[in-house]
This record gives sequence, C-alpha cells and structure tokens, in this order.
Amino acid sequence: MPSATPARPALLGGAPLRTTPFPKHTTMMGDEEKRLVLDVIDDGELSGFSGRVGDRFLGGRMVKALEAEVCKYFGTAFAISFNSATSALHAMVAAAGIGPGDEVITSPFSMAASASAVLMHNAVPVFADIDPATYCLDVASVERAITPRTRAIMAVNLYGHPAALDRLRALADARGLFLFEDNAQSAGATLAGKLTGTWGHAAALSLNYHKAIQCGEGGLVITDDPTLALHCQLIRNHGEVVLGDLPDADVPSHLGWNYRLSEVNAAVAVAQMAKLDPLIAIRRRLAERLTALLSGINGVTPAVPAPGCTHSYYLYPIQLDPERLGLSRATIVKALAAEGFPVNAGYVKPIYWLPMYQRKAAYPKQCPFTCGHYTGDVSYAKGLCPVTEDLHMRTLIIVDICKYPNTMADVEQFAEAFGRVLGHREALRAAGHV
Ligand SMILES: Cc1ncc(COP(=O)(O)O)c(C=O)c1O
Repeated sequence: MPSATPARPALLGGAPLRTTPFPKHTTMMGDEEKRLVLDVIDDGELSGFSGRVGDRFLGGRMVKALEAEVCKYFGTAFAISFNSATSALHAMVAAAGIGPGDEVITSPFSMAASASAVLMHNAVPVFADIDPATYCLDVASVERAITPRTRAIMAVNLYGHPAALDRLRALADARGLFLFEDNAQSAGATLAGKLTGTWGHAAALSLNYHKAIQCGEGGLVITDDPTLALHCQLIRNHGEVVLGDLPDADVPSHLGWNYRLSEVNAAVAVAQMAKLDPLIAIRRRLAERLTALLSGINGVTPAVPAPGCTHSYYLYPIQLDPERLGLSRATIVKALAAEGFPVNAGYVKPIYWLPMYQRKAAYPKQCPFTCGHYTGDVSYAKGLCPVTEDLHMRTLIIVDICKYPNTMADVEQFAEAFGRVLGHREALRAAGHV
C-alpha cells in the first residue's frame, strides 16, 4: 500500500486512476485448441455418442481423451464428462440414488446449481452456514443440520478455496452419508497436499467460459467409485434405453438425460487441460501480491488460505469492517468503480432467499416439499445463516483481477486505487459519502 498522500479520489473529482478497459478472460486459447478442433471438423463426426450398448455409448475419441487427461490430473479412477457442471451435479445426486424424501446439506453461498441439482432429483436442499475465514461450509453447522432424512453433504469449494473436506469426509463417513464436492470453481486447489475434488465420494468440475480453463460449456464428474461412475454414464446418455441390454442385471433402473459433451467442446478442453496449472500459477502470483499489498490495513481482511490449504483464486474475496474503516461498503465500491475498478458488493444472494425457496415451490404442486414422501419441514427463513447473510449484505467485496491476461501492474494499480479511497475517508465522509 503506497504511504505518500494519495491523489484525490475520482469520486471527489480527481482523475480516475484507470481509464483503459480490462482485457477479456482468454485462458491462453491458442494453436493447440485450433488444431484439435479442426481435426474434429475435418473428421466430420462432431459427437461420438450413441444411445446403444457398445463402445460409442461412452462417447467419441475427444470425450475419451478428455476423460483420460482429467483422470491423470486428479488421480481418480473415473472421469465422466458432461455438457455442464450443472448436469454433472445432477448426475452425482441421481447416481447416489438420492430422491424424494431425502435431504442434502449444502452451502447457501454458492451459485444456485449446487442446490438446484438436489431439487432436480426431487430431494430437498438443507442449508448450513459458512465459515467466514474460508467462505465454505462450517462443519459444526453441517452437523447440526443432519436429520434422519440426510443422505449427503454437497460441499462447495468456493472462489478457489477448499472446504473443510477432511472434517466433512470424516463426518460423512461416521454418519453413513455421501460427501459430494461442487468443485466448479476450485480445480487445482489443495488441502493437506490432496486436490479438491478427490476428498468426496464424487466431485463436479466446470468448464464454462468463466472458469480457470474452459471449453465454452462443459463439466465432469470425477470419482473412484465404479458404481457411481457407471450410474453417471447411464444418466448422461439415455440410460433407460440400454439397461435391459447391460450384462450386469443388478444395475438399478435409471432414467437418463442427454447430458453429452460434443467432440468440439471436448477437443478444446483436452488442449486446455495442459494450461490449468500455468493459469493457476499466474492467479496465485497475482493474488499473493494483492494479499501482500492489502495486509496490515486495519479493517481489511484479504484472501488468506486456511492452514494446510492452497488457493486457486477463481475470485479474490476481501472482507471489509465498515465500522473500523469509517466507510460503508457501498461507498468503497462506488469509489473504486469511479477509479476504473468495478468490484462486486457481496456475492450471489444466499440461495434460500431466492423466491423458489421462499415459496417452497420448485415444481408445480410444490414438489418436492409436499409430495408425500417428504416428512421434514425444512426452513428457508431469512436469518437462517447469519454469517452468509452478513457477508453478502455488509462486509464482502469480490475482486476479479487476479486472472490471466491481467498483470502484476493491474493488481498494483488496484491496490493503489484502494489506498487512494481509504486515504481520503474524511474527505469522502465530509462530501456525504458515508
Ligand atoms: C460453484 C458453482 N457450481 C456450479 C456451477 C455451474 O457450472 P456450469 O455453468 O458449468 O453448469 C457454477 C458456475 O458458475 C459454480 O460457480
């Protein structure tokens, strides 16, 4: 943080620190992606899937190449590609046999799909609060939320930070539950040297445009469990059609979807896998610099990985203490935007605030809440998860600057803007910006 008296903030009429727009998020898309996509196009077969028993039931050569690369990276026995992480999340829930009458405990501080996946199979999401140090599920809160109806915990590794996966796995094992990981945001992060995505019985990954690597839209389930893997494969590709023809008569009945990834998307993703570690290394370098620049400011908590964790910095969260800073979050966000640095006030709304939860109506006739199978009375009352609500409403800002092709200079300029705003708190307050 620069110590000299910072120049007048743009919100008070000074020149904005930055006027050039930020570059697009590009994930090093290049020649290798083009080569593999052209190869698919020259071949003409843009999807290798067929909904019949046989090799093509599991997809084409790029889909298989991607799954092999992902198994190698994560060290898992199986990777099953999907056309999004949302379909991968749904498949995990369905593959575990979770359905009407069951509950799955998850985080309210996530993209809606972590919980929607549970509703998609007519089970009920139960929200536990989060740990403000990691933004991920608080283990004690999860424990309190367990009921006789609980079948699984869906941990979300948020912003690139691992949830307390070691303790959640121990809890899940002790109570006979599945532990799933929504690892859409956190590929490459580790806890105790072990990658996120490999602590649970299964995990979902995302390859949508915004993620560390991408193929436009895409996702995967990774698991070591052959039964979960087989069920995911059936759910991905119209499983109901092939069940009668499978050699193993013990496979339970399964409705399948078309959750297949195209060969074009898979080709891009194959090339992107080689860039995952280099892209995360860039994020780490930039994020660690930002942490150093923000450390020591009274009232500001930068993103510091919990002991034993490495962060992959999908986003960079900063907690503000508005009382200590003498400025509200809204003023800080407005002043940073005026300097040319748009940041998010809070993250997404706590999921249970969404009207669907407030009305308890995901489907007509209010299923799954009143379908007759469900004997619980889940609460989505405002105030349910106070830590989540306070972070969202009052104290958290989200910064998206630590990603390629942004540079160290961008990060340093952001920190300078932050210093400029905080260095003029009295003047901002005097001008009515409280
Ligand atoms: C935590 C989390 N879960 C799930 C998803 C859904 O991913 P997809 O867009 O690949 O379906 C996202 C996407 O942003 C996410 O951030």
